[in-house]
Amino acid sequence: MRFSDLLVAAATATAYTMNSQVRLAYHGDNGMMVSWNTFDVVKNPSVQWGLSRDRLDKIATSDVSVTYPTSQTYNNHVLISGLRPDTTYFYKPLQLMNSTTDVFNFTTSREAGDNTPFSVAVVVDLGTMGSKGLTTSAGTGVASTNILQPGEKNTIDSLEANIDNFDFLWHAGDIAYADYWLKEEIHGFLPNTTIQGGAAVYESILNEFYDEMMPITARKPYMVGPGNHEANCDNAGTTDKVHNITYDSSICMMGQTNFTGFKNHFRMPSDVSGGTGNFWYSFDHGMVHFIQLDTETDLGHGFIGPDQTGGSEGFTGVDPVNATMNAQTNWLEADLAAVDRSKTPWVVVAGHRAFYLSNTGDTCPTCKDVFEPLLLKYNVDLVLSGHSHIYERLAPIADGKIDPNELENPSSPWYITNGAAGHYDGLDSLDSPRQPYSRFGLDTSNATYGWSRLTFHNCTHLTHDFVASNNNTVLDSATLFKARTCDQDRRRH
Ligand SMILES: [Fe+2]
Repeated sequence: MRFSDLLVAAATATAYTMNSQVRLAYHGDNGMMVSWNTFDVVKNPSVQWGLSRDRLDKIATSDVSVTYPTSQTYNNHVLISGLRPDTTYFYKPLQLMNSTTDVFNFTTSREAGDNTPFSVAVVVDLGTMGSKGLTTSAGTGVASTNILQPGEKNTIDSLEANIDNFDFLWHAGDIAYADYWLKEEIHGFLPNTTIQGGAAVYESILNEFYDEMMPITARKPYMVGPGNHEANCDNAGTTDKVHNITYDSSICMMGQTNFTGFKNHFRMPSDVSGGTGNFWYSFDHGMVHFIQLDTETDLGHGFIGPDQTGGSEGFTGVDPVNATMNAQTNWLEADLAAVDRSKTPWVVVAGHRAFYLSNTGDTCPTCKDVFEPLLLKYNVDLVLSGHSHIYERLAPIADGKIDPNELENPSSPWYITNGAAGHYDGLDSLDSPRQPYSRFGLDTSNATYGWSRLTFHNCTHLTHDFVASNNNTVLDSATLFKARTCDQDRRRH
């Protein structure tokens, strides 16, 4: 091979690994959204698909190929509709950045009311791994427990190793931590750039993350929600102590504020669930109704969301995503009221910030105020969150009161926070003493990164496992029992 050929081959490989970012999302009862990125705009993004790897005899197209200032890529989104439930299809986006012959496959959502047991993987606060994020070294000021040991498997590795054991991956905010670019430079972990050049670093971290995730997201639906690290480029303010400079959102370039990358990159099924953008929506899958909430903006009722201009994070340039007063809670009430518990007995909610946590400084009291009454009124079973980079399993709680039944048929929602998926500079400490409702915790002292696995056994039993990413062992397991009559006639495999 001539040297020039070698260069072309290397460039092709780089283009592929840096830009395709293929990802899936459930879309209604019979649809799948296929998204991927390209360097150039695509006039009609197209996906070939079919029931067999060798016979992709159908094609779905769209006119959605979108970008934003400072982005290095275009986000292409194509909806495949008319699919059968719980069916495996094969597919191939036609305009990937190389001429790959890769054919991917996905399995559509289980019909509401299908009682077949299944598992779901859940992460919050998962950042880029490797040379731009969490690796075996870090910059100044990072605890030695908050890096990976040589050879240690990270959470993306673990999810990939377990991919045949979950139906979809739910990522309830803080995705990639691209806004850590400045912190990582100040720490001496990444080479210094100018503020203007920072946008390219930010985007490179995003691209790296989405490509690292592709072995998972091209095969399993990747359902996401907003976190504070999607909002702006400045990590809610970053201080260079050596030069005594504190940066804020005013340094953010065009396109690096107001959740712009997040809005462009994903197409969550809010249009078919009455929600708003990638911020709040719901979907059914088998015996579960899943709800993604937005704890970052649009709390309504006179509250300013933590990430909104004027909110507690101190961001500027972040607007509400829905102009209608109380849009999110009005939607939530209507969505919960419409759930048919005979079909989907389980209702599981995820929002980025916790209502309850031993680390009270990481909770969102206003989120509790606006959302909890509805979660109680409609008997939500489980509430998941992150934001605090710890793992804490709590008791079922109603307005601060521990449910006396604990996990044996409680009448209030069970709360679990798992922000321990891992990112540059890793884990936090659990506050001590713990709150009375705390039942189990892991933090930086355990130096264990991990993800959550929910297993729905039937209409009465739901198990949550904390899976350690380094060796896939379960470090905490608890099962919730709800006394209700299962409809045994429903479909079982
Ligand atoms: Fe967060």
